[in-house]
This record gives sequence, structure tokens and C-alpha cells, in this order.
Amino acid sequence: MTETTAPERRTVLVTGTSTGFGRLTVEALARRGHQVFAGLRDLAGRNQKASAELTALAEKEGLALRVIEIDVTDQASVDRAVRSVIETSWRLDVVVNNAGMNFAGPLEAYTAEEAHRQFDVNTLGALRVNNAAIPYLREQGHGALIQIGSLSAWLTPPFNGLYAASKAALRSLTEAWHHELASAGIESVIVDAAAYPTNIGPNAALPSDQARLAPYGETLNRFVSDLVQRSTENAEIIGSASQVSDAVVALVETPDGKRPRQTLVAPPLQYAAVQALAQKADEAARIVADDMGIGAYLATR
Ligand SMILES: NC(=O)c1ccc[n+]([C@@H]2O[C@H](COP(=O)([O-])OP(=O)(O)OC[C@H]3O[C@@H](n4cnc5c(N)ncnc54)[C@H](OP(=O)(O)O)[C@@H]3O)[C@@H](O)[C@H]2O)c1
Repeated sequence: MTETTAPERRTVLVTGTSTGFGRLTVEALARRGHQVFAGLRDLAGRNQKASAELTALAEKEGLALRVIEIDVTDQASVDRAVRSVIETSWRLDVVVNNAGMNFAGPLEAYTAEEAHRQFDVNTLGALRVNNAAIPYLREQGHGALIQIGSLSAWLTPPFNGLYAASKAALRSLTEAWHHELASAGIESVIVDAAAYPTNIGPNAALPSDQARLAPYGETLNRFVSDLVQRSTENAEIIGSASQVSDAVVALVETPDGKRPRQTLVAPPLQYAAVQALAQKADEAARIVADDMGIGAYLATR
């Protein structure tokens, strides 16, 4: 980032900040002078260490960075967190729906309960957080909802169907929020990221039904090893996870009303392919809406 003038200071809530994009994002935002609430679930247990590290960083560097407990699958936890942000800072400019997880395996090997969990975190998690935040943003007359999406929402590969579906649904929600909230001065945008090395891969929830997994055995093994080999070969082209947090920081600092609805963060070939697809999808949506007689209800930007 090469800006010479200081960006306007924003109050930002980010979910899922123990590791990966979320962690990089809160550290980068706080170091740039923003007031940051770093959402972590289970502060007393699994995220005790992450919480202590973030708090120590804030103290050491004098940052306006606070840890806040938030489990996106629990509406009461989400409501408490958003209320606490408002009571502490009397404003909330940007919400970053980053918390997510990955169910990696053939669809057949998952139960409906497992599938529900994938959507509960990745899709309904953002719905809960935004539902809690929107009344405050509406009252303020401004605010931005940033969702962390995925390229796999556009191009579903095998063996990751639940994850892709959860992110495709998140993309649809982002579009609907955009159209429904633009007149209230609230922006809804998405950052669609390619595959970057974070904990989401190693922490993936694998199917528990071994019998149903068995028929995919050899193909699935080859699929995984091809994926790993190509990402190792292309590591330099792919770059680091901070490309995603840089994109989020840039969106946070973009003046209100000017944020692009979609930001792609991907290696060049993937970027170009998905950008072309996204543009066509946008054009198609307008044509269909006009033909249905509802074009006037689509937000113009
Ligand atoms: N890395 C990629 O290739 C990639 C690509 C496209 C999109 N994304 C998306 O980017 C986002 C961040 O993922 P990442 O790659 O940075 O992975 P990550 O390092 O595994 O981070 C995921 C974060 O989400 C949190 N989380 C999970 N369930 C939660 C819940 N119920 N409530 C609150 N927080 C919860 C995790 O907390 P715990 O530590 O407590 O589990 C962790 O902080 C996700 O939405 C992911 O789908 C990732």
C-alpha cells in the first residue's frame, strides 16, 4: 500500500481471526490505525492462545485492537458481540464476515447433519452477523458488509461440493443485501479468493462415513496429490495469504459508496477467467430482471 495521506479511521469487526486471512486482516487494519474488533470463538478454550497473542500485540504496539468473543453459529453470541462493539465505540463502519471452514470430500460421504454444519458456519454465520449489525448501520446511515467468498462459488470442483455450495449461497446473499440495503447507505460486497495456504486445508472436516468414501479411494487420492503438486509448483504465482488481507484492507479504506461489489484475489489465469464469468453473470442478471419487470429494484452500482 503506497498511500501518502492517512485513510479515514474505521471501526471494523472481523470474524474468525485466530489464523489465516482473518488474523492477517486484523493485524494489518490495526497497524494502519483503525479501531479493530477481532472476533474469536471459544476464548477460554481453543482460542486462548490466539486471544493472548492479539492482546499482547495490541499492548506492545499501542494498537486499537480488541479481542471479542463471537461464535458465528450462535445468534446470542453474535448479538452480544455486535452490541459490545456499539457500546464500546458507538459506531461500526465495516463488518468482515471471514469465519469459515471446509468440508472436503465426495458429497455422498456426508450426512445432511454434516452438510448443515458447513452452511451453518460459512453461510448462515454471515446472515447472523449481518442481521445483528444491520439495524445499527441503518441508524448510522452508512456501513459496509464484506463477505469472504471463494472462486469455488463460480466453478465447482469435485470433492468440495459442500464448501462450494456454501460459498455460492454466500455470494447470492451478498447480492441480495446489496440490492436491499443500498438505499439505506449500506454496501454489501464480496472478496472471492483463490486457494491460499492457510489452516483451512489442514483443518478440513473429512467425511466420517468410511464405507461411502471407499469407492472414491484411488481417484480421490490422485485428486489430492495432483492438487498439492500443482500448488507447490505454482507457489510463487499463487503468492501469500496476505494478498487477501491486503484486498480487505483496501476495501475497508475505500470511501463509502465506492466499494466494488466484487473483488477477485487469484493468480492471473484464474483471475481473468472468473472476472469474465462474473461480468457475464452481472449482464445476465440485469437482462433477466428487466425482462421480469423488476429491473428497477436492482441497485444501480
Ligand atoms: N484459504 C483459502 O484457500 C480460502 C480461499 C477462499 C476463501 N477462503 C475463506 O476465507 C475465510 C478464512 O479462511 P482461512 O483460509 O483464513 O482459514 P483458517 O485459517 O482456517 O481461518 C478460519 C477462521 O474461521 C474461524 N471459525 C471457524 N468456525 C467458526 C465459528 N463457528 N465461529 C467463529 N469463527 C469460526 C476459525 O476459528 P478456529 O480457529 O476457532 O477454528 C478461524 O479463525 C473462510 O471463510 C474461508 O472459507 C479461504
